[in-house]
Amino acid sequence: MCGIIGYAGTRNAVPVITEGLKKLEYRGYDSAGIAVFGENGFEVVKQKGRLSALEERLKGNAISGNVGIGHTRWATHGEPSDVNSHPHVGSQSKIAVVHNGTIENYRRLKERLEQKGVRFASQTDSEVIAQLAEYYYDGNLMDTVVKVSGALEGSYALGIMCLDEPDSLVAVKKDNSLIVGVSEHGNFIASDVPAVLKHTNKVCYLNDKEIAVLTKDGVSFFNFDKEPLPKEIETVSWSFDSAEKGGYPHFMLKEIMEQPRVLKDTVRSVLSGGGNKSVIDNLDISGFDKIVITACGSAYNAGVVARYVFERLCRMSVEVELASEFRYKDAIIGDKTLVVLVSQSGETADTIAAMREAKSKGAATLSIINVVGSTISKEADYCLFTAAGPEIAVATTKAFSAQLVLLYALAVRFAVKLGKLPPEKEIALMAELETLPEKAKIILGHTDFIQKYASECVVYKSIFFIGRNIDYAIALEGSLKLKEISYIHSEAYAGGELKHGTISLIEEDTLVVAISNCGRLFGKIMSNAEQVMSRGAKVLLIGCCPEADSASYGGKLSYIGLPEISELFSPSLSVVVLQLFSYYVAANKGLDIDKPRNLAKSVTVE
Ligand code: G6P
Repeated sequence: MCGIIGYAGTRNAVPVITEGLKKLEYRGYDSAGIAVFGENGFEVVKQKGRLSALEERLKGNAISGNVGIGHTRWATHGEPSDVNSHPHVGSQSKIAVVHNGTIENYRRLKERLEQKGVRFASQTDSEVIAQLAEYYYDGNLMDTVVKVSGALEGSYALGIMCLDEPDSLVAVKKDNSLIVGVSEHGNFIASDVPAVLKHTNKVCYLNDKEIAVLTKDGVSFFNFDKEPLPKEIETVSWSFDSAEKGGYPHFMLKEIMEQPRVLKDTVRSVLSGGGNKSVIDNLDISGFDKIVITACGSAYNAGVVARYVFERLCRMSVEVELASEFRYKDAIIGDKTLVVLVSQSGETADTIAAMREAKSKGAATLSIINVVGSTISKEADYCLFTAAGPEIAVATTKAFSAQLVLLYALAVRFAVKLGKLPPEKEIALMAELETLPEKAKIILGHTDFIQKYASECVVYKSIFFIGRNIDYAIALEGSLKLKEISYIHSEAYAGGELKHGTISLIEEDTLVVAISNCGRLFGKIMSNAEQVMSRGAKVLLIGCCPEADSASYGGKLSYIGLPEISELFSPSLSVVVLQLFSYYVAANKGLDIDKPRNLAKSVTVE
């Protein structure tokens, strides 16, 4: 996790770097720090806590310089503290480093350096990089970076400055993302594109074992043999405004509200010509006998929803695996398996490992990714891009919705290719997908009841989510969303499972959110609702349930109706209500919604 940024240009690097770090805080927010070349060598300010704490420190500490590096941390080795914050400077004060990743052999390296008299200041794995670089440095920073990289085991994206080469900044990466941005006033490195969007949309994605050397005048790229590399500078379509709050109190609310646009763009990407359409058209599903969907967090939940859709439409068996489990289970897959990787960032360590495991076993890999240029998007055999734009809030909303839509479209197209769906049914389903943006807009235009209801839910210690079939799948996401941002204990259950244990947890004033879009199962979910209401729980029923009669339950049952939609696509509407519900519960608790405690958006460590 962690976010890094570096700048070499004509402007004062301090505000450029702190502004950029704001866009990377989603990657970690235990501490932040900055180093620039000042008149008397490195000037380093680092501070435990949020970036705002660093900004406060910087107010009373007027450092400046044209070349600098910055970091926002999600602690792995060593507690969040000032000394464990980055940048780390070697004990000779010659080399400063910011690091995203994990150095697995840092203890061994540290011991060796300590035996040679090097004194370490922090408990981090990252400090070993600065100390080792000083140990190897013999007048050429690029040579040093090659030597250091050869000694490191693990993952890293690094920004490195050397006192003897004050006009430049060197970057290198392995298994963690790093982009280079070029602008008229200077050049950047960053963990992710939004960090540089204020200055440029011209970027280049660094590959593993590539080195970038930045000065104010340009960027040069080299391999580990120090041979120059031709790299292409791309223009990204994301705008600076898309990574701003735009008047909303939180990114999460802004991103929830953006969903009609995201759904529309994503549906369009599979219907009209373009990358996604041609990938889907060219994928020959008939060569596969099994689909395995693997992902983490909400992306995994999107996979659970998709399994119901694929199985129903394609009549093909689909497995859904947590990537962290899949990578170690010696999966039974081969060249007749299509492994689908779902990831907003395209950088989640477990999902990357799952992809590599699948490839090593001969499976074909198809990824569904939001961040162009990310590791999974580049390494998977096929890639579909969600048109969500930059997602900043740690808890995903719009990227999840875009993943669902791509998975639906994929299932429909595969079903046609497999001869399981007549063309007229395909046209009808695709036309229904096109109605999703308008239907989501209707929900987003009527949030009053959800807001009021959510404000009364802050008192609950536990909130359960239940559903059956595809409603159960989306209940998983509702529950995850609520617990990650509101810190209220929550679990999701298949309605039929309640009586096998969970019902013992139901008592007076427990809330159960029941989702019901499977008309044929309405009676079943209502009998689950009655079972919990008769034991004192309150129930919030969400769905398209024309038969719902909330008045007859003496205030115990509340109902939020959804626009009519076919069962298979209904999770896309249920989830909008579930996201709003979680958001307003957390907002009423006054929590830091965009940066929930202990979480980070891009989980690049195991
Ligand atoms: C973190 C985020 C989640 C996300 C998950 C997987 O836990 O907070 O919102 O679903 O990682 O991330 P990915 O980038 O692979 O979708």
